[in-house]
Amino acid sequence: MPSTKAPVITIDGPGGSGKGTVTQMLARKLGWHLLDSGALYRLTALAAVRQGVALDDEAGLVKVAAGLDVAFEPTAAGEPVRVILAGQDVTADIRTETTGDNASRVAVMQPVRDALLQRQRDFRQAPGLVADGRDMGTVVFPDAPVKIFLTASAEERARRRYSQLKDAGVDVNIDALLEEIRVRDERDMNRSAAPLKPADDAQVIDSTGLSIEEVLGRCMAAAGQA
Ligand code: DC
Repeated sequence: MPSTKAPVITIDGPGGSGKGTVTQMLARKLGWHLLDSGALYRLTALAAVRQGVALDDEAGLVKVAAGLDVAFEPTAAGEPVRVILAGQDVTADIRTETTGDNASRVAVMQPVRDALLQRQRDFRQAPGLVADGRDMGTVVFPDAPVKIFLTASAEERARRRYSQLKDAGVDVNIDALLEEIRVRDERDMNRSAAPLKPADDAQVIDSTGLSIEEVLGRCMAAAGQA
């Protein structure tokens, strides 16, 4: 049984703010569990496409979300968690720009969000959880004792994504990336279902111009763990 008393640190914010990396580093440092909630929206979108469910078929998407057969497998330090969908390694497939964009589309639907809610809460287990997303502090874990909202300018986030993709050998145009980031921010912040915004009791950290170690330091301080 998941304990309702296990502590949670929520880290919300837009894509490219550094929250994914910081969440992994913080979870490792504390020896706590990790929830990458964005992966669940990405998996829903990917599974829907693979099963031939249209991205505007709300009832079909709810079924896909409720029935996701997913496992998150730990890896060596510094490596991203391996994501297994119906027995198949989809770690790389869920990270493409197309899947990210599709995830943002399915995430506007409240019934899809509802279908993923309990699955996310089940990650709250002793000794604690670091949860990464858009609505971790506002909706999924409103009673979390520590809430962080990590942000960065759209330009900085586009630059970070550009170098990540370049390093992975993917040829991209930085202006196109910036435009995609703006469109996705707009959709995530202006949807009626759990819009991206800091919880009233969140500590806002702007990571623009900071190294990942500096961001981690500020998050540790915010969590009272520095
Ligand atoms: O963090 P990410 O890029 O992996 O998230 C992919 C999409 O999923 C993002 O555009 C918005 C959505 N999402 C959400 O609506 N709520 C969350 N808690 C996490 C992600």
